[in-house]
Amino acid sequence: MSKSLRQARSEARGDIGACRDDFPALAQKINGAPLVYLDSAASAQQPVAVIDAVAEYHRHIHANVHRGVHTLSHRATEAYESARDEIAGFINAGNRREVVFTSGTTESINLVAQSFCRPRLRAGDRILLSQLEHHSNIVPWQLLCDQTGAELLVVPIDERGELDLATFERQIESGVKILAIAHVSNALGTVLPVADLVRRAKQQGVPVLVDGAQAVPHMPVDVQSLDCDFYAFSGHKMCGPTGIGILYAKEALLERMPPYQGGGDMILEVRFEGTKYNDLPYKFEAGTPNISGAIGLGAAVRYLSGIGMERIAEHESKLLQYLTEQVSRVPGIRLIGTARHKASVQSFLLDDIHPHDLGTILDHQGVAIRTGHHCAMPVMDFFRVPGTARASLALYNNRVDVDRLVESLAQAKEIFSQ
Ligand code: ALA
Repeated sequence: MSKSLRQARSEARGDIGACRDDFPALAQKINGAPLVYLDSAASAQQPVAVIDAVAEYHRHIHANVHRGVHTLSHRATEAYESARDEIAGFINAGNRREVVFTSGTTESINLVAQSFCRPRLRAGDRILLSQLEHHSNIVPWQLLCDQTGAELLVVPIDERGELDLATFERQIESGVKILAIAHVSNALGTVLPVADLVRRAKQQGVPVLVDGAQAVPHMPVDVQSLDCDFYAFSGHKMCGPTGIGILYAKEALLERMPPYQGGGDMILEVRFEGTKYNDLPYKFEAGTPNISGAIGLGAAVRYLSGIGMERIAEHESKLLQYLTEQVSRVPGIRLIGTARHKASVQSFLLDDIHPHDLGTILDHQGVAIRTGHHCAMPVMDFFRVPGTARASLALYNNRVDVDRLVESLAQAKEIFSQ
């Protein structure tokens, strides 16, 4: 097929060139129908470039990192550390020492809660979160409250799923010790005005952690321009492997923080009288790390950068608009989450069909969505629903996927009206 014909077809489908063909999982049939994958907020599919990088490591490079004098250990170390460099560049970290490999966003947030905040908090201190947070940006702080006597303060949201900024203004001035806030809501898709929130927090001397799990796969993220202190994200939501993620943190803060876990590789010297910890970022990477995961994440970052995050953001934004318009036309749809600035996600309910039943009917037609509370029960409580159906987009989705979703919703409606 000529390039111009391929481009014309891509434009008609509303996708980014031929990138969909890079994802083998998307080429299969599920329950006899071509797969329509609309659950990337839970976990994104992986391109061949990532699958091959991980397989190549397992086939030819596997050895432990930072430990061996032999060639394979050097190669594994080089691949692991190059991935760190790629990721540092991708988020514009000040330097590679600010990029800590973790098992994912959850571990990154727990690390900050326990290592940075726990020694600094006293009974009655306040931790500011929002009503939009994923459980992984709530429960670590509740544990910390139990340990220190600190209290949670919650920024409310409105019916669109936007933050109540007037209340935030009052709360941030009320003696808060840390602001921990999502960049993009996983349940509603709201994009929070993170740069503004960080600026206001800084004026009060409040450090800020941003949960970027749902932002990094969908838009350019520059941690230096955001000026946040901590930024957490996960590999598997950005076309990388599971079990790997990143904590970005400002070097000066990491230097002052005690290790989160003790073990091999995070030390320079161990004596029974005392231990000298390793330099950054290794002080926070105890034990043999997820080497293949890090290499896979490096490959994912190269892949996404090759397409361009600006381009991905523009594509997904147009597609989300199309999805929201088309889904709203289905009679009986109630959209949950209608913020003015959104990314990648649309939650909804259809008539009084339970979201799990809807998800099951759609799956019979090859359409994969997520249903339930999306690990964001406080959001469900706000909208007074037990759960929603949620369609979430990634760079590889196109208008054909959206049309198939809408057809499947119409069929589900018919089945339930019988
Ligand atoms: N946090 C993931 C989601 O939103 C699991 O689906």
